[in-house]
Amino acid sequence: MVDIHVFNKPASEFSGDAIVCFGYAEGLRLGSGLKPSGGPSFLSQVAAWDKKLNGRIFSLLKEEGSGAAGNVLSIDTLGHLPVRAMVWVGLGEESACKADTYKDAIYGLVRLLEKQKAKKVLVMLPRISQFSEAQLVALSAEALKFGGYHFTRYLSEKKNTDMDVSLQVAEGKRKAESTQALNMGNVLAECSDLARDLANEPSNVLYPEAFAQIARKEVGKIPGLTCRVLNFEEIKKKGMGLLAGVGQGSTRKPCLVVVEYRGGKKKDLFEAFVGKGITFDSGGISLKTGEAAYLMSHMKRDMAGAACVLGVMRAIALLKLPMNAVGVMSMAENMPDGGSHKPGDILKSLSGKTVEVYHTDAEGRLVIADGLAYAQQNYSVSTMIDIATLTGEVMRVFGPSLTAVFANRNPLYRDLKRASVLTGESIWRMPLFQPYVDKVKGAFADLRELNFDMPNAIASALFLQQFVNKDVSWAHLDIAGTEEYTLPQGGKGSTGSAVRLLAHYLLQKYPISAT
Ligand code: BES
Ligand code: ZN
Ligand code: ZN
Repeated sequence: MVDIHVFNKPASEFSGDAIVCFGYAEGLRLGSGLKPSGGPSFLSQVAAWDKKLNGRIFSLLKEEGSGAAGNVLSIDTLGHLPVRAMVWVGLGEESACKADTYKDAIYGLVRLLEKQKAKKVLVMLPRISQFSEAQLVALSAEALKFGGYHFTRYLSEKKNTDMDVSLQVAEGKRKAESTQALNMGNVLAECSDLARDLANEPSNVLYPEAFAQIARKEVGKIPGLTCRVLNFEEIKKKGMGLLAGVGQGSTRKPCLVVVEYRGGKKKDLFEAFVGKGITFDSGGISLKTGEAAYLMSHMKRDMAGAACVLGVMRAIALLKLPMNAVGVMSMAENMPDGGSHKPGDILKSLSGKTVEVYHTDAEGRLVIADGLAYAQQNYSVSTMIDIATLTGEVMRVFGPSLTAVFANRNPLYRDLKRASVLTGESIWRMPLFQPYVDKVKGAFADLRELNFDMPNAIASALFLQQFVNKDVSWAHLDIAGTEEYTLPQGGKGSTGSAVRLLAHYLLQKYPISAT
């Protein structure tokens, strides 16, 4: 756990385990004139410290401080300074430094500080052209806290990685602005962590009704949120045949979790978020084979979309956004059984459309389709975003750092892209190519769930689009690739994909008034 504070005194008044400074490739080497974060007053402080250490700081920087993005140099101060180490972090070329460069550098920094068993740290904030100081406080708090996340619930021996980090803001600066920024960073990290905790839970612990129980508990802690859960019987009675069909084979029955927030005016339309909540995806009767079977343990995270929705709803309420929102989480476990849905079955959706099943491993689009219909039938929705670990294809084609986005309106995609740049969660647009729509139309039912002749990511998005009312702005986020850490700077397990992206999207659209 990382706790963050702001510090508005000179760095010389800090004592602890480490002082962290950032530098760009152009200015970290002494030869081209050292320009560390913290500005000229801090530079003269560093020069004084360097003198105390007989030139150790500058000579080591010259030899090893490349300033390349991700380059981290830790200089032991040998007991001569009030801090044990000066840590220099490279951010690469200044013009190329964006939110994701900075965040990746922070994740690497946190790993190093954890290894050094640092407990008390001061961070000199860098200057990044697109961010104000307050934004940088928020971004840094979020990244430091996010980077310090570990899922240790089931380890008998837990390492103590707790850390206190102070962020240096301009000396004497009014605290209110920084405190608000700090709060925002904390909230975003905590809401991502909630989503990560849920996605990391194994499916023997986290089955649909267990998720619903946690959602109820989390919602109960936050004023402004309400939670409603439809159980298996209610789902069937309502006519949600797709969600019921996917979940009917498991001993752990499906449910629908609905979280509501009304922070806007009564007549304001709702932003709806719909999450895929498959707590385990074995493939069902079309049981996974080959590599997918080998990787089946990862399918406990096939509910990351639902976890994201709960995280986003929590962020909306904690930040008290002036808007109305609803989160719909379609929870089910996809298992083979005598009572499972089968290839060839025809299911009736909540929208009234019938769907022919071809392959029970393509279950995600079914449960989301009923979630989309539920949101539109029960709320006046202006914008609807679904989040799903939907296709292996997106994982293979886009890799671990890009979320695929399909959108039926350009402005919605543009808003998401802007949030993506701010938050460092990268997205890329995919086509809702209408000439392919015929391929999702059925022969014996209105729609077919799968068409083996079609690229799966596009076909699944076109399938979902059939459940979206024409007047609704809609985006579909396929997070199959980005949901799990596979890159070294990350961590292990769930990334909490899209929580921060969507929170930033909403913060842009419904700004909170400054205090
Ligand atoms: N949950 C999977 C998609 C997935 C795969 C997410 C890997 C994360 C990592 C989805 O339900 C699925 O099984 N999709 C299959 C469908 C196919 C067999 C028709 C796929 O995309 O491979
Ligand atoms: Zn599947
Ligand atoms: Zn799945």
